[in-house]
Amino acid sequence: RMLKRQMQCRLDIDRLNAAFLAIYESLVPLEEETAKQKQFFMLLEKLVRKEWPEARLYLYGSCANSFGVSKSDIDVCLTIEDAEINKSEVLLKLADILQADNLQNVQALTRARVPIVKLMDPVTGISCDICLNNVLAVVNTKLLRDYAQIDVRLRQLAFIVKHWAKSRGVNATYQGTLSSYAYVLMCIHFLQQRRPAILPCLQEMGTTYSTIVDDIQCAYFDQVEKLRGFGSRNKETIAQLVWAFFNYWAYRHDYANGVISVRTGSILSKREKDWTRRIGNDRHLICIEDPFETSHDLGRVVDKFSIKVLREEFERAADIMQYDPNPCVTLFEPY
Ligand code: GTP
Ligand code: MG
Repeated sequence: RMLKRQMQCRLDIDRLNAAFLAIYESLVPLEEETAKQKQFFMLLEKLVRKEWPEARLYLYGSCANSFGVSKSDIDVCLTIEDAEINKSEVLLKLADILQADNLQNVQALTRARVPIVKLMDPVTGISCDICLNNVLAVVNTKLLRDYAQIDVRLRQLAFIVKHWAKSRGVNATYQGTLSSYAYVLMCIHFLQQRRPAILPCLQEMGTTYSTIVDDIQCAYFDQVEKLRGFGSRNKETIAQLVWAFFNYWAYRHDYANGVISVRTGSILSKREKDWTRRIGNDRHLICIEDPFETSHDLGRVVDKFSIKVLREEFERAADIMQYDPNPCVTLFEPY
């Protein structure tokens, strides 16, 4: 009878894994969609080069970090080296050029925290935000993409977590919950912490890539093709990792003292970062260190109300993974 029960349990886990993998597969963009984005990006490059020959365009965010689900908007960064430029003027000029080329819904948001031009391509239906000289975002996009190449379980876990966060309404920084970028960092950190580790800490390894952006030295090991198979001693499956991820954020993380840090592959203390009290609007109720801008806490947007919402959602997810007969459905139920 014992053997029979073990076999039943095995079957349940296999079925749950298969269900999570199917969700992951359904979220991955098709190749033709990625190709369309590239094509549209090349059109933008052509238009920009005509006006600013020495300017460069980069894709960043989820369309370039390999954590983009199907039908995402694309994020583009325009870099112009000239220190003399007036950001607002450049963005207004850019908006004019794009409008003249029949792109739709062109809007220059010059007074936003991150000033951008928004637009939509009527041919492909792709929406796009263009920001100016936000090179750190381009570099952290590369870091995320490089981590994703090491072990496929990162991409699987991050897709499931992002899908959960969107379904449950906890993926909106303007409402005090976390950005997609923050959730991916939480996943990377979590996989660095498994034993045996599933991901290494690239910033603690020998430097093969290095650049200085806004006086910040960004350096890490980027020859990730040499790290394939790094996590293969760890046999945990996606269902186990989803369970453990939510269990960690529901019941194990030390919210009072802990700062998760992908940069060091460890948990730092709020005391050593001097993140123990509220300064301005930064409350540090959940602390996620940016891998390059180390004074930057991606949890800064979380306030005393939204921290409650977040923690209740982590607990709900953990309990579903523990007790629900059909977690793949219940987990993503709209709130
Ligand atoms: P979705 O659009 O939700 O699929 O995800 P996304 O990966 O595009 O994430 P998000 O819109 O949150 O952010 C886009 C990019 O901006 C990220 O990949 C980062 O490169 C960058 N970014 C977002 N938030 C921050 C931040 O607080 N600090 C820094 N330095 N970069 C950020
Ligand atoms: Mg985005």
